[in-house]
Amino acid sequence: MDNIQSYIKDHKDRFLNELIELLKIPSISADSAYKTDVLKTADAVKTSLEKAGCDRVEICKTDGYPIVYGEKIIDKNLPTVLVYGHYDVQPPDPLNLWNSPPFEPVIKKTDLHPEGAIFARGACDDKGQMYMHVKAMEFMTSTNQLPCNVKFMIEGEEEVGSSNLAIFVKNNQEKLKNDVILISDTGMIAKDVPSITTGLRGLSYVEVEVTGPNRDLHSGLYGGAVANPINVLTKMIASLHDENNHITIPGFYDKVEELSKDERAEMAKAPFNLENYKKALDIEAVYGETGYTTNERNSIRPTLDVNGIWGGYTGEGAKTVIASKAYAKISMRLVPHQDWVEITELFKKHFESIAPKGVTVKVTPHHGGQGYVTPIDSIGYQAASKAYQDTFGKTPIPQRSGGSIPIVALFEQELKSKTILMGFGLDSDAIHSPNEHFGVFNYLKGIETIPLFYKYFTELSK
Ligand code: BES
Ligand code: MN
Ligand code: MN
Repeated sequence: MDNIQSYIKDHKDRFLNELIELLKIPSISADSAYKTDVLKTADAVKTSLEKAGCDRVEICKTDGYPIVYGEKIIDKNLPTVLVYGHYDVQPPDPLNLWNSPPFEPVIKKTDLHPEGAIFARGACDDKGQMYMHVKAMEFMTSTNQLPCNVKFMIEGEEEVGSSNLAIFVKNNQEKLKNDVILISDTGMIAKDVPSITTGLRGLSYVEVEVTGPNRDLHSGLYGGAVANPINVLTKMIASLHDENNHITIPGFYDKVEELSKDERAEMAKAPFNLENYKKALDIEAVYGETGYTTNERNSIRPTLDVNGIWGGYTGEGAKTVIASKAYAKISMRLVPHQDWVEITELFKKHFESIAPKGVTVKVTPHHGGQGYVTPIDSIGYQAASKAYQDTFGKTPIPQRSGGSIPIVALFEQELKSKTILMGFGLDSDAIHSPNEHFGVFNYLKGIETIPLFYKYFTELSK
């Protein structure tokens, strides 16, 4: 494409400043205290799409946060790319672990990013990656190089389960009709190792509550004589994995597809350095299911993790008490073919069945979603591959990710189209963690690569 590099060079500072303005708005979807800010972010996204050359931009109301929709239809006979992203972000806590405030973006140099990285909540996930598409659109429209039709659908509830988007998609099939869905909300292997995400894990998220006595008790007067809900809960949780770190819920693995030797050998070719991996996390050893490598454990295998656990006294000093209740939030990452509703049921049944006498257990499902895999011989994948080849000088490596974007499986089910996951983030970007950041290199590389996807997708669709 003509001038993409020079266009980026000329507008680089503005591209960064616009993203910084967007990152200043704390669009935390999980916390209702930020409602006005989330809505303000939707407005800002709308304005940015209008400026980028979209023709019909609307704020589509839902029962939750709105979806920003915009489109540019240049010719009904040309293919249509639907871009999805999210403008909401994760809560930034714990705040004291941030080196600079999460909603006061700063560009700082790091060892990995000598040209700088933007530090802010949402810098990578997903405001930065979503905004690459807005700027790529700006480039294509302002230089008369948009080769096909485009639709944008940017939501504000991804980090809380996308339940209203699911309804929106089901009710707006015609409006959202497309030939391919394009998302940048994943990562790549390394700055000089481009990759395309070919799989996402599914998710089942539940909360459990264990109740013992009807009130908190003196741990001396009652200790040893009644069930302590925290002791019981931790024991129940511990029993969910066996000595090989297999999950013990009956039926959990029934639908898990075992990859062939060849597929696993192919996966093992992706560059990975275990020593660097451990060093980056300050751990002496990795840990996981027997019989699988680290990259297999975090992508093609299902997992079960406690995300939070609480109960009893956690204040300063000591208090001798047996709490009446104990709680935990548990997530299960699932692989394709495992159905999240079915797995949630299996979990509930099993967890209730292992409760000892003397306590009652309540399992409350939160949200979930199906996993996703996509073939590498589709036109969309080939177009993405050629685009990376042009901008990185290397063929990207297909890679299944451990993360989840549950709406992707629903897109396929409802809109019957494949999703291409062109992520430009790095695992070290600390998404969901303190000091989230996004490399300036990655941001600009994304803006450079995306228009080429449009070009090749249009050409290959002929
Ligand atoms: N963008 C992430 C998912 C992701 C990140 C996938 C990196 C692959 C690589 C997304 O915003 C996210 O955080 N998803 C949640 C699930 C959602 C239902 C809250 C997740 O994976 O925990
Ligand atoms: Mn995301
Ligand atoms: Mn996220």
